[in-house]
This record gives sequence, C-alpha cells and structure tokens, in this order.
Amino acid sequence: NLREMVKICCIGAGYVGGPTMAVIALKCPDIQVVVVDISVPRITAWNSDQLPIYEPGLDDVVKQCRGKNLFFSTDVEKHVCEADIVFVSVNTPTKTRGLGAGKAADLTYWESAARMIADVSKSDKIVVEKSTVPVKTAEAIEKILTHNSKGINFQILSNPEFLAEGTAIEDLFKPDRVLIGGRETPGGQKAIQTLKNVYAHWVPEENIITTNLWSAELSKLAANAFLAQRISSVNAMSALCEATGANVSQVAYAVGKDTRIGPKFLNASVGFGGSCFQKDILNLVYICECNGLPEVAEYWKQVIKINDYQKSRFVNRVVASMFNTVSNKKIAILGFAFKKDTGDTRETPAIDVCKGLLGDKACVSIYDPQVTEDQIRRDLTLNKFEWDHPFHVQRPMSPTTVKQVTVVWDAYAATKDAHAICILTEWDEFKTLDYKRIYDNMQKPAFIFDGRNVVDIEKLREIGFIVYSIGKPLDAWLKDMPAIA
Ligand code: UDX
Ligand code: UDX
Ligand code: ADP
Repeated sequence: NLREMVKICCIGAGYVGGPTMAVIALKCPDIQVVVVDISVPRITAWNSDQLPIYEPGLDDVVKQCRGKNLFFSTDVEKHVCEADIVFVSVNTPTKTRGLGAGKAADLTYWESAARMIADVSKSDKIVVEKSTVPVKTAEAIEKILTHNSKGINFQILSNPEFLAEGTAIEDLFKPDRVLIGGRETPGGQKAIQTLKNVYAHWVPEENIITTNLWSAELSKLAANAFLAQRISSVNAMSALCEATGANVSQVAYAVGKDTRIGPKFLNASVGFGGSCFQKDILNLVYICECNGLPEVAEYWKQVIKINDYQKSRFVNRVVASMFNTVSNKKIAILGFAFKKDTGDTRETPAIDVCKGLLGDKACVSIYDPQVTEDQIRRDLTLNKFEWDHPFHVQRPMSPTTVKQVTVVWDAYAATKDAHAICILTEWDEFKTLDYKRIYDNMQKPAFIFDGRNVVDIEKLREIGFIVYSIGKPLDAWLKDMPAIA
C-alpha cells in the first residue's frame, strides 16, 4: 500500500541526526529516510567514504542503506515538503549575549527550521523535536507552525535522543527506552502511534514510553542532569579520597553494589565533557530561575561548579608537583577528545586543562588518535560557549601560544623529552603503551598525571615515574607538594 509508505526527513546531519536516521533506515527498509543539512561540506562527507563523524559501527550501517532508503541532501525544502515525519535535530547553542547569556538555549536555528517547515509544507506533517531543547519549546514551535499553516495539520512530538557518543550505534540498536511525548488530543495520540510504529520495527513495545509533551522534554534534561550529577558526586569524593588515603575506585565499587545506586557511571575523572551535560544543566538552571525556583537552580548549579573545580584541581596538582612552575617545560597531553572512541572535542576537559597549563607558560605536545590538529588549535582559541555557534569568529592563536602548542600523531613523539604526561582521555591504547621506553626518553623526575585512571600505578612507580591518579592514595612526593585548589 503506497499511501502507507512513510517518508521521513531529518533536518540536521550532526552527531544525533546522522546516526539516528541511519539506524532507522537500516531497521525500517519500508521507510525512506532523507537527512538534510544547510552545510554543504557535511552533506558531501555523509555521501563519501569519509563520514563527518567517527563512531564505531556507523560506516557499516551507512554503507548498507545509503542510496537504497537512506539519502543525504542539501535540498532542505524539497525533502521537508515531501515528508510525512520531519525530525528536527539542529543545534541549540548556549546564548553568548542578551537575555540569559551563558545559560539559556539559543533557539535561532530551531525557529528558522520551524518557519521553513511552515513555509514549504503542502501536506499534513508530524514534526518531531529530536535535539534537546528547553521545556515548552514544543509549544512555541507549535505556535509558529499553526499560525502559518494555510490549513495544514501539524502535530508536534518530543522524542529526545539518549544515545551516547562512542556507543551511538549500540545505543540505537538496543535503547534502554524510546520516549515519545505528544498532545493528549486524538490527533496527538495518532501522531504518537505513527512514530511508535517506526521504532516498533526493532524496539520492544514495553521499552517505548509515551508521555505528554512537557514530561518528554523535561525527562531529557533531567536524565542528563542526573548522569552529570553522579560524576560530580564521585569526583567530589575523589578529592576527599586523596586527602584521606581512601581509594575512589574502592569507594565507588562499594557504593555501586547497592542496587538502589547501581555500578555504572561512577568513574572518577578529570571532569565530564561533551556537548550535552553542561549545556543541558545550564538550561535547566535557567528554566528554574525563570520559574521562580532559585533553590532548585542553585542545587543543580553545584554539579557544574564541582566539574570546574575538578579540572582546575587537576591543573593545580600538576603545577604544584613540578616545583610550582611548568614554565617552558614540555608536557605531553595524551587524549584530547571528551571521551574515548569519538573524535568529538565539544566541552572536553582537555581544553580547560591545556589552557590552564598554557597560562602557566608550559609547552604542550598533544596526541589524540581521532582529533585533528586543526580542531585542537580551533578549540584552544575559542571562548566559552562559542563552539556551537557555526558562524563564530575565527580568532588566530597568539604567536606565543602557537609556539607553545604542538600536535603530534603518536604517544611516543608527544612524550619524548617531556617533564610530565597528562592522560586526559581513556583511549584503550594508553593502557598498553611501552611506559619503560617512554620513561627512558623523558626528563627526570618523570611525572604522570592520570586524569582517567587508566594506568597501572604500581607498575609505573616501579619504572620510576611519580604517578598521580584521580582519587588514589598519593605517593610521598605528591604529599610533600600539596596542591592548593
Ligand atoms: C550523554 C548521555 O550519556 C546521553 O544519554 C545523552 O543523550 C547525551 O549526553 P555523551 O555526552 O555522548 O552522552 O557521553 P557520556 O558517556 O555520557 O559521557 C559524558 C562525559 O562524562 C564524558 O566526558 C565522560 O568521560 C564522562 N564520564 C562518564 C566520567 O567522567 N565518568 C563516568 O563514569 C562516565
Ligand atoms: C537508610 C539507608 O537506606 C540504609 O542503607 C542505611 O543503612 C541507613 O539509612 P533508612 O533511613 O532506614 O535507611 O530508610 P530509607 O528507606 O533509606 O529511607 C530514608 C528516607 O528517605 C525515608 O524518610 C524515606 O521515606 C525517604 N525516601 C526514600 C524518599 O523520600 N524517596 C525515596 O525514593 C526513597
Ligand atoms: P547534535 O550534536 O545535536 O547532532 P550538531 O551540531 O552535530 O548537533 O548538528 C546540528 C546540524 O544542524 C549541523 O550540521 C547544522 O549545519 C544543522 N543545521 C542547523 N540549522 C539548520 C537549518 N535551519 N536547516 C538545516 N540544517 C541546519
């Protein structure tokens, strides 16, 4: 039945839109999926052998469906016009100026997408909010759509995506849950059912949750806030562990054994990064403030404060251990991405750590298996919150900073003649490096600051390294050089 063949169009071919649509296409051969974007290089890359994002398993999924029922195009209006379901997965940066600057979400891209949908539509459509947005955005979008609709029926749904980068394909294949929020009207319920039928191709019915619009929107912000809070909780404990001689891994294991708490997402680190956690919490804080709930806003703000504290505590520890000066010392940075198995550097703690060390005149030599030199140099010149604004000014690095930063393609080159190593991403390959060889080629005393707890402390101490790991008992050297946060 041709009439029932659903056509999907997704606006925004980014980290969320790309993988999500590829998996929908794979699991639903009877559905045509077109991903559109205004960025020509992005779409060109999606149509090439070199996809614009690194994500394990993604190449394979794209290869299986591209050209069959999965297409990437810059002809935004044509494909929106033809679609029955339009997913909107455009960026929602943090506002850098005006009301709510540094907190509120900038909905410029969302609004322009909504107006465009209203302009080009000739048939009824379901419009699905996929990117994380402030609660009640759906209502605003609904207003834009219905006030410009020439009698066309738009149903708006909220269907937040919970995939994590590095495991996106696994997460999409076996999601903990799919969440669909919609209006409680007959039209709204019918739209929910239509979208549910798409996911039901591979997701068990009981894992598809349906709610009202506001619950779906808020659940996404809440889930990210809870996840980030776990990391700040364990990171706060890590500071106390270092002060008392407890071991944060032992504490986290013991705490996580409580089934009410659970063992996952309790790894102490140099701090969380990524495009979502900080942005979504800031957004949540702003919404609380706007709704006259300053106590609630204050509560969630602490999650970000502890994260910032953890990053500066790390830098202080490095500088203090090295006789209070890193000026002109070479420091190897192993890992720049915000987590392993991704080339994404958005909000990566490596940016703050590198900026901190550069501020103290260190020379940093950076190696990450997936991040390009261009990206690293761009990241080190951007100001806070600028990364998600596609048309931000490109600032040149100051000539002194250019000299202070080198980017190399191998851990051995990065560490040669270095005074210290900072491990900032938990890439598997850092566990199996030849640390004896590295030690022999470093200045002495040779320091390792492990921001991800990936190295074997005892082994490295045997080789001769002075080792700092997050939340682990300090060796005598570090105790004598207390880091003041
Ligand atoms: C997150 C959510 O997990 C996902 O559900 C949501 O859709 C988007 O935001 P993502 O940011 O891709 O996903 O990765 P995630 O695995 O959550 O890691 C976020 C940050 O927390 C990383 O910097 C990671 O290194 C850090 N982290 C994670 C820790 O420091 N310790 C942990 O135990 C877990
Ligand atoms: C708690 C710990 O659970 C236990 O492991 C520890 O050894 C002692 O402290 P207890 O105080 O006896 O045990 O009861 P618990 O079930 O944890 O409840 C504590 C309070 O939290 C109660 O007032 C309970 O009503 C409240 N609570 C609990 C909630 O408000 N919401 C919840 O979801 C759970
Ligand atoms: P996410 O991590 O949420 O997927 P990204 O920044 O990776 O976010 O992707 C968002 C994409 O949306 C970008 O590729 C951007 O070019 C695209 N985009 C933004 N506004 C529009 C628009 N009005 N029409 C089409 N694409 C858009």
